[in-house]
Amino acid sequence: MALGMDVRVSTRDVQQFEGDALVVGVFADGKLDGPAALLDKALAGVIKGLQDDGEVRGAADEVTLLHTLGKIEPTRVAIVGLGARDRYSLDRIRRASAIGCRTLRKAGARHVGLALAWAEHGLNLAQAARASAEGAILGLYQFRRYKAQAADSEEESGANGKRKVNENAREIESITVLGRGREPALRAAVERGRILADAQNLARDLGNEPPNVLTPIEFAARAEKLAEACGLECEVYGPDWMREQGMGALLGVGQGSVNEPRLIVLRYRGGPASQPGLGLVGKGMTFDSGGISIKPAADMDAMKMDMCGAAAVVGAMVAIAQLKPKINVTGLVPTAENMPSGTAYRPGDILRASNGKTVEILNTDAEGRLILADALSYGGRLGLSPMIDAATLTGAITVALGKLRAGLFSNDEAFQSKTVAAAEIAGERLWPMPMDAEYEELIRSEIADMKQTGGRAGGSIAAAKVLANFADGAPWAHLDIAGVAWRDHREADGDKGASGYGVRLFAELASLLAERRSARVP
Ligand code: BES
Ligand code: MN
Ligand code: ZN
Repeated sequence: MALGMDVRVSTRDVQQFEGDALVVGVFADGKLDGPAALLDKALAGVIKGLQDDGEVRGAADEVTLLHTLGKIEPTRVAIVGLGARDRYSLDRIRRASAIGCRTLRKAGARHVGLALAWAEHGLNLAQAARASAEGAILGLYQFRRYKAQAADSEEESGANGKRKVNENAREIESITVLGRGREPALRAAVERGRILADAQNLARDLGNEPPNVLTPIEFAARAEKLAEACGLECEVYGPDWMREQGMGALLGVGQGSVNEPRLIVLRYRGGPASQPGLGLVGKGMTFDSGGISIKPAADMDAMKMDMCGAAAVVGAMVAIAQLKPKINVTGLVPTAENMPSGTAYRPGDILRASNGKTVEILNTDAEGRLILADALSYGGRLGLSPMIDAATLTGAITVALGKLRAGLFSNDEAFQSKTVAAAEIAGERLWPMPMDAEYEELIRSEIADMKQTGGRAGGSIAAAKVLANFADGAPWAHLDIAGVAWRDHREADGDKGASGYGVRLFAELASLLAERRSARVP
């Protein structure tokens, strides 16, 4: 399923590229080698000259736009700083590629060649090629569905402070990763990067949709359409089915809204039929007003992003369908809208989830753990093992970790390590959080099996402890992505809005588990 732009690979030298623009990297040590050296030669030393003038310093995120004046086929070159050579990383490559491509789009480029640097410091050529493709696709992403000016223009701040449309900007139609080494290996790596980045952009689209459009019913309709397009099985369940299942927690959260809740089930079969396989679970609040415990008006609009965990699951399933790891994977998305109304659930209510456990409601704004409770219980009944969820669960995780790393919670050391390994391969940052048994005190209730919240102290841990009650029996991990799911400002390497965090991590996790399962142990 090709979603985005045309992505190609070439092992020809950079100066022979036949598109209309190039992205080339230079390190901060000033030493020109690899593609930068070849290009400098083809351009009669212009890069070296700019270095000598101090205009090209190679600092991370620095970008300089050159005109090639007929010396080579491409008319423009974006020289992007790669920073310190000994700190070169896949993440640096992604950023540099994104920044270079965004600069060239503004200049009107259509066909861009990417030649950041050959492998350095433990990065192999295929990994580097893949990261270049990912960075370009992620960096060029824009959500412009609701703007009169079509997606092929980019707004900038004009000189008078007014917004103006850059007439020159057009969508880039193709990127070509200019690599070295065995072409089939490069091709496979770049294709993997394309699949993952396109799937991540798909998750960002879902996250950016307004809540009047993306209701639980519409979310389910989109999941069905995507599943159909990439060959996944999809089932969607409504309130009647939930009542049969005893899903009192999901129903309770959804009962205040005229937009009914849904449970979306996506299935990928890559393993033996007898194996239940990996479970991916995502919090899908299409809007979280807080309910009766209503949130303050300031920034409440941001709570349209409260389904980013669910979007990560859908995106990952779409990626997995294309990557085809030898493992079964089931995506579970409980989706609902949290609204205050005469039918809404209230503080003081006691809800019973489908595993029979009861929760004493103290704050209707702590709704995510409730809808996940029923989804995790259901995953347990399906026999899914291990299970991992992603949820924009607590503001407290942002207090703890900021907006750089997600919080990782788990009931199983081995699965936690696998998750950390998958995150590293994916280039998505997380940090392990504690789950000592003593924290269970936070949610002890006098009148129900547990309280829903434990107050301000350790808020993210208390939430994870609630979830743990519904994931018992299987190795389980939980990602609190409240801090990382949304970018507040447009930056050099990407637009404001949903980040798509979790898509790559989930897809890499499926691959890692598949490798282990199919590996013949000597
Ligand atoms: N969806 C929010 C958490 C959130 C906050 C996500 C900010 C993204 C940005 C969640 O449902 C929530 O409201 N959590 C409460 C829990 C509290 C009532 C125990 C919170 O964090 O304040
Ligand atoms: Mn809430
Ligand atoms: Zn929420």
